Amino acid sequence: MTHPLQLTPDGRLRHLLTVEGLSRPLLTDILDQAERYAGQPSSNRGSSGSRGLKVPLLHGKTVVNLFFEASTRTRMTFELAAKRLSADVLNLQIAASSTSKGETLLDTLKTMEAMQVDMFVIRHEASGAAHFFAQHAAPEVAILNAGDGRHAHPTQALLDMFTIRRHRPDFENLTVAIVGDILHSRVARSDIHALRILGAKEIRVVGPRTLIPAGIEAMGVTVHNDIDSGLADADVVILLRLQKERMVGAFLPSTGEFHRDFGLTKARLETLKPDVLVMHPGPINRGVEIEGDVAYGERSLILEQVEHGIAVRMAVMGMILGDEGAAA
Ligand code: NCD
Repeated sequence: MTHPLQLTPDGRLRHLLTVEGLSRPLLTDILDQAERYAGQPSSNRGSSGSRGLKVPLLHGKTVVNLFFEASTRTRMTFELAAKRLSADVLNLQIAASSTSKGETLLDTLKTMEAMQVDMFVIRHEASGAAHFFAQHAAPEVAILNAGDGRHAHPTQALLDMFTIRRHRPDFENLTVAIVGDILHSRVARSDIHALRILGAKEIRVVGPRTLIPAGIEAMGVTVHNDIDSGLADADVVILLRLQKERMVGAFLPSTGEFHRDFGLTKARLETLKPDVLVMHPGPINRGVEIEGDVAYGERSLILEQVEHGIAVRMAVMGMILGDEGAAA
């Protein structure tokens, strides 16, 4: 079951809060819509891109980016996506806003609604912040979750699926390994839901015991505390950053030790399938979960993920605000 707030009674996207429970047709429809914006895949890596593309779909609509946590690629690609759809885009500078004077989230929402905003893109350190907004938003206002605490990061999962699908559309044959700090990662959770919806053959989470949540097998994954068994025969490796800002206390002896035991080095990459796809939502910590040479090496899709973020976010915004939503 998807979140009851998320869909209209006729099954169209109303908000995007989580990928959990989205139907396969609806998820696939989002990826298909994104194809329209992403440009042609080039012969090898990447695409010819959507550079310069501008469509009038959201002309006259106003989108506000509310980022209570740091972000580079997510915030900027949301902004680019909205601009390419011809929306007016505002970015609230949180540190310079009234939230720093003690205004509550709800008061911020109501204040902006009075400015006739059509869509809020929200990132917040509290799990559930986007749901809270969706519960209290006026009927004509849409909420997009750009990451809430450890809970969900739906557009990241969608752009990850889009990127995988461009190279390997055969999800039912794919073994995907998600490596690193699973415990604190909203990306891991959203990717797992999306991969299950698309029918991935096997999903593994790989990392030290301290960074894998107890009971995660219930999400339909297998747990590996050893990198070599975790990566053996993997078709896709998704690396995650150690989310130090969410760690209370010591989860690891040292980052050096983590790199030795779980980092994707060139030497380790050479032991994997020759056509393995290496992904990372960013920001990367070079020399910790990934070696710099691997991050920008020929197996890496990291920059493609960034680029695809624009097309996928355009697709979601267009489906919600642009009268293009298809019923699932
Ligand atoms: C991730 C996030 O913020 O959840 N990054 C992103 O959105 N591209 C992962 C992270 O911060 O490590």
